Amino acid sequence: MREKVICGLDVGSSKVCAVIAGFLPAEKQLNILGVGEERCSGLKHGVVVNIENTCRAISQAVEKAEQEAEVKVKDVIVNINGHHIEGHMHQGATKIPRADREITSEDIERVINSARAVPLSSDRQIIHAIPLDFKVDNQAGVENPAGMEGSHLEVDVMLITGDCAPMNNLDKCITRSGLGIKRTVSTLLAPTCTVVASEEKELGCILVDIGAQTINMAIFVGGALKYIGEIDMGSDYITYDLAYGLKTSFNEAKRIKEDFGCAVTDNILETEIKYVGVDGQSSHKTTNKEVNKIIEPRVDDIIDLIAEEIASSGHQQMVPSGIILSGGGSELKGLDEAIRRKISNFQVRLGRPRNIKGKEDRANSPKYATAVGLMEYIMNLDKEPWMSDVSHASHGGFWDKLKAWFEEVF
Ligand SMILES: Nc1ncnc2c1ncn2[C@@H]1O[C@H](COP(=O)(O)OP(=O)(O)OP(=O)(O)O)[C@@H](O)[C@H]1O
Ligand SMILES: [Mg+2]
Repeated sequence: MREKVICGLDVGSSKVCAVIAGFLPAEKQLNILGVGEERCSGLKHGVVVNIENTCRAISQAVEKAEQEAEVKVKDVIVNINGHHIEGHMHQGATKIPRADREITSEDIERVINSARAVPLSSDRQIIHAIPLDFKVDNQAGVENPAGMEGSHLEVDVMLITGDCAPMNNLDKCITRSGLGIKRTVSTLLAPTCTVVASEEKELGCILVDIGAQTINMAIFVGGALKYIGEIDMGSDYITYDLAYGLKTSFNEAKRIKEDFGCAVTDNILETEIKYVGVDGQSSHKTTNKEVNKIIEPRVDDIIDLIAEEIASSGHQQMVPSGIILSGGGSELKGLDEAIRRKISNFQVRLGRPRNIKGKEDRANSPKYATAVGLMEYIMNLDKEPWMSDVSHASHGGFWDKLKAWFEEVF
């Protein structure tokens, strides 16, 4: 069977990352071919504020990934992020009009469309309509009603909506970089698709993606997405505190944070750290203990905000699989332990892209969870009932749908 290629493009607040993967339909596993990363200063809090800078970073990230993969990509699956994205539950209902009362895919599409028919202001649009729970003649908990008999079909749908302007600006950046968009997927959904096991979702879990300037959360109970939340905060705030405290540049502070920072300060051996001052010339010294003292209040702040968001979701008692972390910010040493200590009763683990092969070492970092998850999202569309996203409704079967997403490579 011939391999197809697919490209996940994570346009983040600190970097653009392109991951190219090959895919053999029979194997249903991504074969990582190339990863390209480029720093990007064109976004603030997940939203494009400078088209030129973002275009440059997108082109360079994709080019690097193409060189490593030795293929060219025409289209990408891209993420949309930012505080403007919201998720709300809506209900839909329809009658089954035929005498045999057997529910068809057209009935399912009709009931989901009835849930989508909500008044939205002209500057907002639906990004995802995710059916979470169907009810057939008042019997709740139906995962997939196709083929069942009934006269009345209802559905609970999570509608994820966003502002049109940031979405159009992101589209512009992709098209001006000479690429096409296969699909736009919310950053709130993408990492889950690759770092969380289906058993964890079934039992109940929370995905927390800690990026540079945003923290995204998705809560699953009984296998279904129940809550999404976004916090305007991220690991760059720790970097700014360090730059301030040590009187050095953002880049030097970032290096110190990533190499020496630790969220848990007990039993730590003192190490000397040399760095360059904000003038770019003067030499300075500090220690890892001093660094940790500076970052501690911000780390506490971040954990408090995550705890508040979990509490406000109302689902904190229903997530025995605990917290799964992704995003570059989750790589701060000891952060999982610090969260475990502060938000007691929760298991916490670092999530890395799963179910990948090929150059898997290149892509198995938590910071690549979004780029890899974007590709997994597309593959999962028909695999999991809750993922049966109908924003781009299609009547075809699984492989018919996939045909549209994958490009021939050989
Ligand atoms: N080893 C590390 N230790 C501590 N922090 C790290 C480490 N690696 C990366 N980071 C931090 O993670 C952040 C970048 O994470 P990520 O790449 O997930 O963000 P992004 O996707 O660009 O941003 P956002 O999701 O907010 O739009 C930066 O602040 C970076 O300094
Ligand atoms: Mg991100």
